[in-house]
Amino acid sequence: MPTVRDLQAMAGEEPITMLTAYDAVTASIVDDTGVDVILVGDSMGNAVLGHDDTLPVTLDEMASRVGAVARGADDALVVADMPFLSFGADESESIQNCGRMLKEEGANAVKLESGPHTVELTERLTDLGIPTMAHLGLTPQSVNQTGYTRQATGREEAEEIVDLAREHEDAGAFALVLEHIPANLAAQVTEAVDIPTIGIGAGGDCDGQVLVFTDVVGLSESSPPFAEQFGDVRGEVADAVDEYIDAVESGEFPGESHSHTEEELDDLY
Ligand code: KIV
Repeated sequence: MPTVRDLQAMAGEEPITMLTAYDAVTASIVDDTGVDVILVGDSMGNAVLGHDDTLPVTLDEMASRVGAVARGADDALVVADMPFLSFGADESESIQNCGRMLKEEGANAVKLESGPHTVELTERLTDLGIPTMAHLGLTPQSVNQTGYTRQATGREEAEEIVDLAREHEDAGAFALVLEHIPANLAAQVTEAVDIPTIGIGAGGDCDGQVLVFTDVVGLSESSPPFAEQFGDVRGEVADAVDEYIDAVESGEFPGESHSHTEEELDDLY
C-alpha cells in the first residue's frame, strides 16, 4: 500500500503525477498507467455530475465515489477531496467526515481546500492518523468570493500563500496543491517548504502536477486555460455510439453471434 512517506520521498527526485478519477473503471485505467496519486476531486461536481460548480457535491456522493475509486486502484495513493462544508464548521464533525473516507471507503488521505481556518484542523487530523493534503491559491469552493481567476497576483496575497504553506506544513500537511497562481510564486513556495507541492496552473517548478481526468482525455465540454487535452475521448465515445445506432437502425446488430435459439421453442404458436 502506498504511503504519504513514499510520496514525500519523491519530492525533488522525480515529478509526482496526480490525476482525478471518480469511478472504479477510470481508477483502474489510471492506476494501471502508474500514476502516483488519484484524487477523488470534488471537481466531480462539474466534471461528471452536471453541476455548474463544486458546491453542491455532498459527503455521501464523495463517499460513494471514493469507495469506487479505492476498489478500482491497487497502487496509487487515493486522496478524498472533502466537499464544501463537510469540514471547517465544527471540529468534531470535520474529523468524523474525514475519518469516514479512510475508515469506510478505503482512501489513504484527505484533501482540504485550505486557509487560515484549516491549520488547526490539519494538525488534529494528522495527529489522529488522517494524512491531510492542503490546497492553496484558487480554491473552487470559494468561487463566490474569488471567481475562477488567477490568484495571488499581488505581493500581499502572494506572501499570505507562502505563510499559509509554511503553517500547513508545520501543522503536518503531507503535501500541498497550488492552483492557478503565478509560476514564480509556486517556485518560491516549493523552495520554502519541505513537503511536496503539486501544481495545477502553477507552472513547472512544483514537485508534481495534477489535472482533472475529463480535461486530460478530452471528455470535458470546456476546460480551464491551464489544462491540456491529451486525447479525444469525447469524439471516440460519440463515434462508437453513432456506429451502434447505425447498426441497430440498419438491422446489422444484433447478429447471430449476439443471439441464441432453443429448438423446442420453434413451434410455440
Ligand atoms: O477537485 C479537484 O479535482 C481538485 C484538483 C483540481 C486539485 O481540487
